[in-house]
Amino acid sequence: MGSGHRVAVFGAYGHTGRFVVAQLRDRGFVPVLSGRDAGKLRALAASEPGLDARPASVADPASLDRALAGTSAVINCAGPFGTTAAPVIEAALRARIPYVDVAAEIEANADTFAHFADRARAAGAVIVPAMAFYGGLGDLLATAAMGDWTTADEAHIAYGLNSWHPTAGTRAASKAVQERRNGRRVRYTNGRLEYHTDELPTLEWPFPEPMGTRAVLGEFTMADVVTIPSHLSIPEVRTYMTVEAAKDVSAPDTPTPAAVDERGRSAQTFLVDVVVRSGGAERRAVARGQDIYAVTAPLAVEAVHRILAGQTKAVGVASAGEIFDAPDLLRALSAHISLELRQ
Ligand SMILES: NC(=O)c1ccc[n+]([C@@H]2O[C@H](COP(=O)([O-])OP(=O)(O)OC[C@H]3O[C@@H](n4cnc5c(N)ncnc54)[C@H](OP(=O)(O)O)[C@@H]3O)[C@@H](O)[C@H]2O)c1
Repeated sequence: MGSGHRVAVFGAYGHTGRFVVAQLRDRGFVPVLSGRDAGKLRALAASEPGLDARPASVADPASLDRALAGTSAVINCAGPFGTTAAPVIEAALRARIPYVDVAAEIEANADTFAHFADRARAAGAVIVPAMAFYGGLGDLLATAAMGDWTTADEAHIAYGLNSWHPTAGTRAASKAVQERRNGRRVRYTNGRLEYHTDELPTLEWPFPEPMGTRAVLGEFTMADVVTIPSHLSIPEVRTYMTVEAAKDVSAPDTPTPAAVDERGRSAQTFLVDVVVRSGGAERRAVARGQDIYAVTAPLAVEAVHRILAGQTKAVGVASAGEIFDAPDLLRALSAHISLELRQ
């Protein structure tokens, strides 16, 4: 299906990068392994016979050019993306190949739109930030839920995670974001990001059965507040997180994810409940699956597949919901995500 296209994975030996490499192979692509640590790359290449390993650093553009040479696309899995996104996008523009990343950093995702939208559009290039569980999936669900609506009053994305064992990369991204915000919090209201120091409210969210009503932290703001308003006219976008998962991810001693199945997935389950409201009407899209890191791989690889196959609706910097046929893409991932649309 991947027709043997070579696809560079920057950050290939990270937790998410490894899922992406495996998914590329499953889909018939040839991953080109890249990252900043030559030793870790060699170790990964030893377990993935036949694959090229090309060390590269974001501080050395020529090394990134070598990493992307002869590839058809690049997937950036190396975060914090506040550091890696711009140099890897620059390299993708020089190589004239599409760029997809899995960034879950609100400000870094907003920077990608702000800094590259004009140049990418003018060059006819495709850049898809946050093509991942956070940012990408919520946007696809919100877009699918909208159906024929072109505007809505509110979008709510409630994350029902049974647990969240964070990777080192998640902790590093969260630290980078906290530093950038000077300890403030962010929410999306009145059509813009608003920084504040209010405590996060604890609310009840009525997840579909069998999960049912659960305590969630309100304004637990995720990358969906960048991706959704980038193309949908919705002035209020709010995200919520089950209290247990929010506690897990912030506790310093929560372990990293442990594999429990042959695909390397952890026991973590997710339910993403998206509700859009317009006037008195409400539409809903719900996704269920296992392991937020693992499911990021089929999302990112499906994006590359569709971009290379010309199944796109936009050029320039575009989020998943804008550039792809959202319900069709979600249905194509039925082996990884079970979907329910209520319109
Ligand atoms: N949006 C989502 O839903 C989603 C899903 C999955 C992952 N992510 C994000 O993806 C990133 C990676 O997560 P992970 O779970 O794979 O974490 P991980 O296992 O800790 O891997 C992090 C990777 O990033 C690399 N890296 C870090 N800083 C770098 C830099 N300055 N230059 C080059 N490489 C650098 C690391 O290389 P070294 O080992 O050499 O440091 C490693 O390969 C995180 O930012 C995470 O938030 C987002």
